[in-house]
Amino acid sequence: MKIDELKFYEVIDSRGNPTIACKIFSGKFSSISMVPSGASTGSKEAQEIRDNDKKRFLGKGLKEVIKKTEHQIFGAICQKNLLDQKEIDNSLIELDGSKNKSNIGANMILAVSMAVSKVASQSENMELYQYLHQIAKQFEIDSDYSLPLPMMNILNGGAHANNPLEFQEFMIQPAGFEDFDESLRSGIEIFHNLKNELQDNNFSTSVGDEGGFAPEISDTKKALDFICSAVEKSGYKMGDEIFIAMDCAASEIFIDGKYSFEGNNLDTLGLIQIYEELIKSYPIKSIEDPLDENDWDGWKDITKQIGDKVSIVGDDLFVTNKKVLEKGIKNVSANSILIKVNQIGTISETLETISLANKNNISTVISHRSGETEDTFISDFAVGIGAGQIKTGAPSRSDRTAKYNRLLMINSDNNFSFEGTNEIKK
Ligand code: PGA
Ligand code: ZN
Repeated sequence: MKIDELKFYEVIDSRGNPTIACKIFSGKFSSISMVPSGASTGSKEAQEIRDNDKKRFLGKGLKEVIKKTEHQIFGAICQKNLLDQKEIDNSLIELDGSKNKSNIGANMILAVSMAVSKVASQSENMELYQYLHQIAKQFEIDSDYSLPLPMMNILNGGAHANNPLEFQEFMIQPAGFEDFDESLRSGIEIFHNLKNELQDNNFSTSVGDEGGFAPEISDTKKALDFICSAVEKSGYKMGDEIFIAMDCAASEIFIDGKYSFEGNNLDTLGLIQIYEELIKSYPIKSIEDPLDENDWDGWKDITKQIGDKVSIVGDDLFVTNKKVLEKGIKNVSANSILIKVNQIGTISETLETISLANKNNISTVISHRSGETEDTFISDFAVGIGAGQIKTGAPSRSDRTAKYNRLLMINSDNNFSFEGTNEIKK
């Protein structure tokens, strides 16, 4: 089967910025994908491109980009076999020709890559997670289907909110449950109780970009204490059923060679000490981007010091890039990788990175971006490749709940495993 027609649209993401949607037609089938966009991006990410016409959407429009590249993209893939994801992705990479997809744009390329897999799954009469599971095998990923452990970002700070909290994300991992539904339900109850707690203490309950609350708190421990009391109020056991994960997005607080944290300018060891104290006082099981993306020696140190107790997750560090992950594996820089499809720009390259991670015992967390859409691709992706964990925000705002709702439906339709407790032990 071939791609008969390809259409791009300029649509809007959850932050009100334009983004790309792509509709692909093949025979009697058609499918739409939409591309997310980050706020605290890693410097080595594949590049999204925009019109830069200040008269429209403050320069973020995409009409001209679409006009310029639509025909070229169709020309590059129209003769390809729809079911050959690798070949189609390679054609897109070749057409772009740059190292970081800055010619055609990672946003344009990813929209096509995702839409291709969606139409292909229809033509094969498969659910998307089944089709992705099948493709993953070509990349030597042979994990069983599973429902991922949710990492729910219930307190937002950093670049995702205009409060003074320096760390970007405070998440709960409801791991101690038999089933995905129960895990998610407990997280949602905690979210509601956190709202009550904040309200009772006269804090705002307005939410940040990923749907978590964004109160005017500057003290990290205070934020963690609020989460602990919400867990207690909900009747769950902290450190047994519920664990904490943080995304520190530390590149954002790395200024002039020092980490700016709660009024201090810390060196790498100083910040690692803070983490050591925090993991002694709270059941923190995962720390993402604890250090700046170029602080490779620091990453090695922190993994050596606390990597046996917590997941050290590379997001801005690895940018879902196989080559950078290779360096990280050699350097023993982390023990977990965040996977964001738009950081690298094609499904095939994403699968290559995951395959390398799997072979080296690096756990994988499939992730949304802070700027999202109603596209639920990542839910199917996480299940299809048995990723183990998913990070897709708080249970609030449709851009986030769309992903959870898709997972609930997949869970209800199947008897796939949920390995929350094992994920925490990794
Ligand atoms: P971003 O943040 O999508 O704004 O880059 C998400 C993250 O850092 O994990
Ligand atoms: Zn991150």
